[in-house]
Amino acid sequence: MNSPARIVVLVSGAGTNLQALLDACADPAYGARVVAVGADRDGVEGLARADRAGVPTFVARVADYTSREHWDRALADKVGAFEPDLVVSAGFMKLLSQDFLDRFLTLNTHPALCPAFPGMHGPRDALEHGVKVTGATLFVVDAGVDTGPIVAQVPVEVVEDDDVASLHERIKAAERAMLVDAVGRIAREGISVEGRRVRIGGDAR
Ligand code: GRF
Repeated sequence: MNSPARIVVLVSGAGTNLQALLDACADPAYGARVVAVGADRDGVEGLARADRAGVPTFVARVADYTSREHWDRALADKVGAFEPDLVVSAGFMKLLSQDFLDRFLTLNTHPALCPAFPGMHGPRDALEHGVKVTGATLFVVDAGVDTGPIVAQVPVEVVEDDDVASLHERIKAAERAMLVDAVGRIAREGISVEGRRVRIGGDAR
């Protein structure tokens, strides 16, 4: 791991998780730097946030490549050009190939307490199921959908009047704090992944 750790963030939308990381990285004591932000689509707020922070951006749109494999390789090359220690997928709405994941240690945030409610609709599915507590999970991306080894989790209470939007907003506030805390500790202390067990610090890389 470099010091400060080099982070590439992948986004598809609003990029509030990205913003939280950019803000944290402004403090040299945090130990990490966002060296680039990539997206799978043009014109999203996440890219504008990177621009405003003076961080280089790139876009790789699936439609611009002849196959999903070519897109994946192109994305990996664009990411690789910035020599990241860590890739953070923060609201990036594409699955990454095993080749990509073999090349880069990649973390993702999910707005539910894994292994509950994987997929695109974590807050909605939690609400429909009637759980009283849900939350957010930071995990090491593997070949499945929100199935990878868990790095950190934070609980969020479901309240009586919640709808999907209000619940997701409260989850996102907790999710951002969790992400900033975990990425900073990983940057400063390293991370080791053995099977499903993730440890920050120790003899980590
Ligand atoms: C987050 O809740 C993330 O977990 C989910 O999409 C949301 C992205 O939010 N996959 P933002 O783009 O970081 O604001």
